[in-house]
Amino acid sequence: MIAYDVNTVQSVAGKVVIVTGGGTGIGKIYSQRLAQAGARVVLADIAGEAAEAVALGIREAGGEAIAIRTDVIDAAAVQTMVDQTIAKWGRVDGLINNASLMSVLERGDWFKIDPDEWDRVMAVNLKGIFLCCRAVYPHMKAQGGGRIVNISSSRIWAGNPNRLHYTTSKAGVIGLTRALAREVGDDKIGVNAITPGFTESETQMASSSANYVAGRDLSRSFKRPQYPDDLVGAVMFLLSDASAFITGQTINVDGGQAMH
Ligand SMILES: NC(=O)c1ccc[n+]([C@@H]2O[C@H](COP(=O)([O-])OP(=O)(O)OC[C@H]3O[C@@H](n4cnc5c(N)ncnc54)[C@H](O)[C@@H]3O)[C@@H](O)[C@H]2O)c1
Repeated sequence: MIAYDVNTVQSVAGKVVIVTGGGTGIGKIYSQRLAQAGARVVLADIAGEAAEAVALGIREAGGEAIAIRTDVIDAAAVQTMVDQTIAKWGRVDGLINNASLMSVLERGDWFKIDPDEWDRVMAVNLKGIFLCCRAVYPHMKAQGGGRIVNISSSRIWAGNPNRLHYTTSKAGVIGLTRALAREVGDDKIGVNAITPGFTESETQMASSSANYVAGRDLSRSFKRPQYPDDLVGAVMFLLSDASAFITGQTINVDGGQAMH
């Protein structure tokens, strides 16, 4: 019989996980929950003070976390962040590419999108993922494997309008996930994505009208708000050995709005 320890396989305890955009919103919740589950967490966020505050809170609660101010579109800064992770813990087991430009973007007519803003969205939401994957890759390869989780959006299934650049970038995340999974499969690195539905992070709520929020809730099979904690299980699964033979896939987590 094959030895299969259910508790170990499903655990993220002891794993070193980088969470980009870990200082606020959903990334903060991923970081806190991972630390509660025994992971060692690196919060890499351009909002350095916010990330430091979250990391401090995790440490005060008995968890392990460090914050490293990082702009994910700055290749040198991303490299430094990964170097500091290795200096601190000697390895990197997981990467959650969560940083993005979303709530700071106005919802509006595609025709009015500033071309420079389009470029910034593509840079943070796509190039940032490429740079972070590129920086962790040599370490994961040398270790004999790793897990990458890319955060897309359920908008891509329905083609939600009014943030055309954002929706386009999140569709790009799926293409990146699939192609990269094939490129790094021989290195035993898993690359998967999740597509969250409208989730009540503090930033999302601050940029959404009550009508918009109610409409999203009613469009689900489970007609209630989606909270950051609703995403944690899928992300932990994709970081753990329980998903060791899953790669290039996308899990939709939106309470049954889109069917994927
Ligand atoms: N909240 C939702 O409804 C929802 C739905 C679908 C997908 N998502 C995705 O989930 C993720 C988290 O969403 P959120 O609601 O917490 O958003 P958010 O705007 O609150 O968080 C984004 C985080 O990324 C950080 N960030 C922005 N630019 C950065 C950069 N250049 N370098 C490093 N960090 C940077 C921000 O400081 C922030 O901490 C995002 O990828 C978002 O696109 C969110």
